[in-house]
Amino acid sequence: MSVRIVLGTQWGDEGKGKIVDLLTEEADAVVRYQGGANAGHTVRIDEKEFILHLIPSGILHPHTECYIGNGVVLDPFTLLEEIEFLESKGIDISNRLFISHNTHLVLPYHKLLDQAIEANSNNTKIGTTCRGIGPAYSDKANRTNIRLGEILDLDGFKMRLEKNIDENNLLLERMYHQTPIDKAELVKNCLEIEPKVAPLITDVSLRINHAIKAGKYILIEGAQGTLLDIDFGTYPFVTSSNSVSGGACTGLGIGPTKIDSVMGVLKVYTTRVGQGPFPTELRDGFDEEMRRLGNEYGATTGRPRRCGWFDAVIARYSARINGIDSFALTKLDVLDTIKEIQVCIGYDYKGNTLSDFPPESKMVENCKPVYQTFKGWQQPTRHLKSFDELPENAKYYIQAIEEMIQTKISIISLGPQRHQTIFRN
Ligand code: GDP
Ligand code: IMO
Ligand code: MG
Repeated sequence: MSVRIVLGTQWGDEGKGKIVDLLTEEADAVVRYQGGANAGHTVRIDEKEFILHLIPSGILHPHTECYIGNGVVLDPFTLLEEIEFLESKGIDISNRLFISHNTHLVLPYHKLLDQAIEANSNNTKIGTTCRGIGPAYSDKANRTNIRLGEILDLDGFKMRLEKNIDENNLLLERMYHQTPIDKAELVKNCLEIEPKVAPLITDVSLRINHAIKAGKYILIEGAQGTLLDIDFGTYPFVTSSNSVSGGACTGLGIGPTKIDSVMGVLKVYTTRVGQGPFPTELRDGFDEEMRRLGNEYGATTGRPRRCGWFDAVIARYSARINGIDSFALTKLDVLDTIKEIQVCIGYDYKGNTLSDFPPESKMVENCKPVYQTFKGWQQPTRHLKSFDELPENAKYYIQAIEEMIQTKISIISLGPQRHQTIFRN
């Protein structure tokens, strides 16, 4: 039927979990292609809240297959905890979850290194999730990391693991003055999980390509957001993977000609967790107000998210980098009580107005937002079912954003629940 990527267009936490869960209704498979347990995707179903870190958000639909591609870095212990959590909520994952042989492992020494690098005052503090993402991708690029499929040959796996523990312990001890990992214990723990993870290992590229050929509908779920992409984000304040749509091909083993559409998830305001430039960031207490209204606390770390106004420069940039052909606009309801809403329509950079996102982070740091003011609608929207029912000021606001980003908004989200959604055509 079709292959669709759904990804974040800001600094993450745009509401991807909700949108992917909604679209899964019609999907045969949902797939993750990058990132790791740094992601926290929330799906709310009535009174139950599920926060998924590694397993695709499609898992909550009982007949959907879920895949984790080679581009992901996988913490096998977090994976097993997540599976246990889902099973405790009555969600059966058997014969529905498949992981690529070539998915790289995140092991406890990666997490310790992540923390140690962040704590080292000589380094630029990124404000990472401390989930070991950077060190695991570094080992991958350095060609020393262990891939999940290696566990199928236990003796070889054990040898490689012991060597990697030794090398990482050297780094931990000598460079960062940390307590080393207990080698015997980690080897034992890793060997113990083999019976649970081995049955999940599959040639994901082969299976997905077969599914595409058979006309199945595949949803590809991005993690993080475009401004956190290692190449196109606000480097070095980024994650360590390609979260942009291009990453889906290399992270899954499918060709670009197989992708039919790219949907960008876009929050009606902006948030960011961790350090780095953020032109529309709010201050003077208004950030706290926005955080309270939007309940903006990290789904993975619980950290308060930095909050700011909607930034059309970023949305346009994301549309360009990802080839977005439609947007899902989320959290409209959070603006319900606000009297005057600001939208950043360009940046003032040294006296010049920029309408395109600058290619260098240093420039972004020195950009001041140019705002257009919109009148708020100051009435509840969560119960509304169609675009026509929205207050006039809300319609005007959405249409103005659509104009600014030159791309259609086909889904409007008005609350965390599945039914709090308006579909347009
Ligand atoms: P993700 O990482 O992009 O999946 O987003 P997160 O799950 O980290 O954060 C989004 C938060 O907003 C979650 O708590 C969702 O339940 C919630 N959410 C999603 N859509 C809406 C919406 O339209 N309105 C409101 N009020 N909350 C929403
Ligand atoms: P989802 O998928 C928001 C941020 C971290 C930090 C930077 C690098 O839920 O949108 P990392 O641990 O990846 O090395 O941290 O990236 N970050 C996220 N911010 N949402 C996420 O995921 C994030 N994943 C990483 O806060 O600034
Ligand atoms: Mg999140």
